[in-house]
Amino acid sequence: MGEKNIILTGDRPTGRLHLGHYVGSLKRRVELQNSGLFDAINILIADDQALTDNADNPAKIRDSIVNVVLDYLSVGIDPTKTTICVQSALPALHALTFYYLNLVTTARLSRNPTVKAEIQMRGFAEEGLPTGFFIYPVSQAADITAFDATVVPVGDDQLPMIEQTREIVEKFNKIYGKTLVLPRAMIPENEMQRRLPGIDGKAKMSKSLGNCIYLSDDPKTVKKLVNGKMFTDPQHLAISDPGHTEGNVVFTYLDALCRKEHFAMFLPDYADLEEMKEHYRRGGLGDGVCKKFLIQVLEETLEPIRAERARWEADIDSVYDIIREGTAKAVETTNATLARVRKAMRIDYFEDRSIVKEWNALLKQAKQ
Ligand code: TRP
Repeated sequence: MGEKNIILTGDRPTGRLHLGHYVGSLKRRVELQNSGLFDAINILIADDQALTDNADNPAKIRDSIVNVVLDYLSVGIDPTKTTICVQSALPALHALTFYYLNLVTTARLSRNPTVKAEIQMRGFAEEGLPTGFFIYPVSQAADITAFDATVVPVGDDQLPMIEQTREIVEKFNKIYGKTLVLPRAMIPENEMQRRLPGIDGKAKMSKSLGNCIYLSDDPKTVKKLVNGKMFTDPQHLAISDPGHTEGNVVFTYLDALCRKEHFAMFLPDYADLEEMKEHYRRGGLGDGVCKKFLIQVLEETLEPIRAERARWEADIDSVYDIIREGTAKAVETTNATLARVRKAMRIDYFEDRSIVKEWNALLKQAKQ
């Protein structure tokens, strides 16, 4: 325990994954997976957490699981290197959550900035807050500690969850003796990976805002979204006008996705993105040319993902087996942690009969 390098990360299955997920986390997970630096890599499909604000729509979660797994497999998550598992089938997580809840005050949970923002967004402030939603950071601490994770690669909106987890670990270890592994967050290196804006220029690509490009969108849809809906520079009216590249979504996406060789392939007028941006700022470069280039860059990224997805879509039996086997493995891992936790708390009554001796001694002593 403790000396290993273990990753646990996860997603709520509430829909297909989009380009923001790809740039912000999926690409990184594949790199980490292939780095050879980790003893174990786990991805948790957090369907229980997804239910905390979708209790009335479990079908949405059920349908999303297959889409999320297909998205993982199609970007290069390799089930022989990464364990993909389903949260609701890991009973140890529920038990751990219940014990950890005793180590967290409601006041502390109320201060979590991410949960606060989500409460506003979902209208729970007016409608009433489901208790399960309120406490999901504690269940997330169970997710992380159950795998003995040392590293949790997440977006910066998840930092409060990791902080909360660390507090729980410290408190648990202080009361019951050193049992749990202290994890640390690993957040994306640069601003762009942290938050790819939506195609409308809003800060975040998000399903509820309807401003996403999904990894599984077909070429026609991608083209339509870029040409028809993408926010550029509202002051750049005539081609000859000087333009802004900052806050211009076409350029933000190019920053995130384009490589030098894309210019040689699709737009040899420029050596690199800097040259292209300079021309745009100077005036004389139209949005049409920029968007056409972006579409080509997007296609170069998305086409292999789509092809891989199509392969897996034709073999859902294998997809099912991947998560079934991943989950079976995760049951073992998380049960072992729960056993360790129960032992540390000395509530492992039925492991052996040693407590009978203890009780006998106790009762004898009471008589003396
Ligand atoms: N809360 C995370 C999100 O919304 C999903 C998640 C659940 C998670 N359990 C986790 C992330 C454990 C990292 C580790 O994206």
